Amino acid sequence: MEAQAKPMNRDTPQRIPPNLDELILVTRSGEETQVLGRAIGEAVQESLVIALQGDLGAGKTTLTQGIAAGLGVSHRVTSPTFTLVSEYPGRDGARLLHVDSYRLGDSSQAAQREASTFGMEEILEQAEAPALGEPPAITVVVIEWAERLAELLPPDHLAIHLEHLPDEPDSRRLRLVAHGPRSRALLSRVAQAWTPQPAEPL
Ligand SMILES: Nc1ncnc2c1ncn2[C@@H]1O[C@H](COP(=O)(O)OP(=O)(O)OP(=O)(O)O)[C@@H](O)[C@H]1O
Ligand SMILES: [Mg+2]
Repeated sequence: MEAQAKPMNRDTPQRIPPNLDELILVTRSGEETQVLGRAIGEAVQESLVIALQGDLGAGKTTLTQGIAAGLGVSHRVTSPTFTLVSEYPGRDGARLLHVDSYRLGDSSQAAQREASTFGMEEILEQAEAPALGEPPAITVVVIEWAERLAELLPPDHLAIHLEHLPDEPDSRRLRLVAHGPRSRALLSRVAQAWTPQPAEPL
């Protein structure tokens, strides 16, 4: 079985195994979730799908804003309202494709059907086949409400589950799960790079 590290907080020794399948973290503010997102974006070295799951207000867009910053995106990232996907240019030709499946069909079958008519398979393929260029550019596809598109996700993707903590309005528990070699390598780099922020102002 692969090594796991959970949960991680400031008291956890920083001995991170090289191939990590799962990482559980708690953030104490939206800013801290953005810092984590930035660490993820900075750790990206190859194209990948990042599948975000969590209720309304769990912090999916907040995390995506951090990922965007770490990918060198200078535009402000908001949820795509009228389009299914927004595209942002980042560092060294990298692109962020931000998908929000919230408004797709009522059931996940209907959502997947609707997503297919909008070319979701082609969008996801862009994170699998390297874009042409020298060196090949990176495409990161971040999907909010990814559980609705579960059957369309490529085998290798990084799933991130976000949830509120009871009685702590500004805390979130994030469970990052790697589903293949690329996402596993990314997760290990994130675990090495991310330093939790102080929970309280000093
Ligand atoms: N620890 C935290 N992590 C993330 N967001 C937090 C945290 N604490 C408070 N927040 C706040 O919670 C809100 C999260 O909103 P956000 O739009 O990111 O959620 P979402 O999951 O994308 O929601 P939706 O399902 O509507 O798309 C923001 O206002 C953010 O500032
Ligand atoms: Mg959102």
